[in-house]
Amino acid sequence: SLVTLRELLKDAQERNYAVGAFNTNNMEIIQAIIEAAEEERSPVILQASQGGLKYAGLEYIVAMVEVAAKNATVPVALHLDHGTSFEQIVKCVRAGFSSVMFDGSKHPLEDNIQKTAKVIEVAQAAGLSVEAELGKIGGTEDDITVSEEDAMMTNPEEAKYFVEKTNVDALAIAIGTAHGPYKGQPKLDFDRLKTIRSLVSTPLVLHGASGVGEDSIRKAIELGITKINIDTDIRQAFTRGVQDVTNNKPEEFDPRKILGPAKEEMKEIVKQKMRLFGCSNKA
Ligand code: G3H
Ligand code: 13P
Ligand code: ZN
Ligand code: NA
Repeated sequence: SLVTLRELLKDAQERNYAVGAFNTNNMEIIQAIIEAAEEERSPVILQASQGGLKYAGLEYIVAMVEVAAKNATVPVALHLDHGTSFEQIVKCVRAGFSSVMFDGSKHPLEDNIQKTAKVIEVAQAAGLSVEAELGKIGGTEDDITVSEEDAMMTNPEEAKYFVEKTNVDALAIAIGTAHGPYKGQPKLDFDRLKTIRSLVSTPLVLHGASGVGEDSIRKAIELGITKINIDTDIRQAFTRGVQDVTNNKPEEFDPRKILGPAKEEMKEIVKQKMRLFGCSNKA
């Protein structure tokens, strides 16, 4: 059965590693992530975004992940990624998720706190964990200036206030990463992370981690990041796998012979991440 985020991140915090949270949209992606976790003996978080739920459907995602978790010998959590409405959170609670993210980062601080608290009330009562977001994690395509980027980053004092008010299970912070592929190498604000960690004992989450250099990832974990989100690197692996087949064997028409290699590409990437995050051999 599924485990909660709280349970996974507690162990990660105690043993100084981060759990990988991988975005999932179809059966091949789920299988790639689960097989990687089994082979690496790693706890794992499968998460579905707004787009993922729209694409596959809530019921398909839950059913497929439940099958995967039932047969798994490693702990598996099913998490909603960037939930934006209370109604959707309630749907996920009812459908069998073990954890949800409520992303109220676009709202002013007090509104974010209030909306997050409302989500926590229903989700925690049903036994689910809740991740919130403070500061804005944008996309690399958003085209923002340096001063705008600075203003988007998480304010450490606000983070302290936020967790005191909400008692949230995990907090996503903005320290310079962005969703999507990077043009160059992102520069993370490690001093900010250090300050936040010194004020907040809640597990901290790094979004936008695809494309971030290995040294930066290791340092972020050392400074207290315990959940790391990966989507783009999996998408790119999938597409690389498909293109390899369709370029080298244009006459291939069996979907299994196109998606099979794509799945292997994704699995390899996920295994690499698990080793990098230190969650390999922690299950
Ligand atoms: O956080 C966003 C995910 O990386 C992707 O979101 O599936 O809605 O495009 P999406
Ligand atoms: P990437 O786009 O860098 O993989 O980030 C994914 C993410 O943060 C999902 O919430
Ligand atoms: Zn994200
Ligand atoms: Na990224």
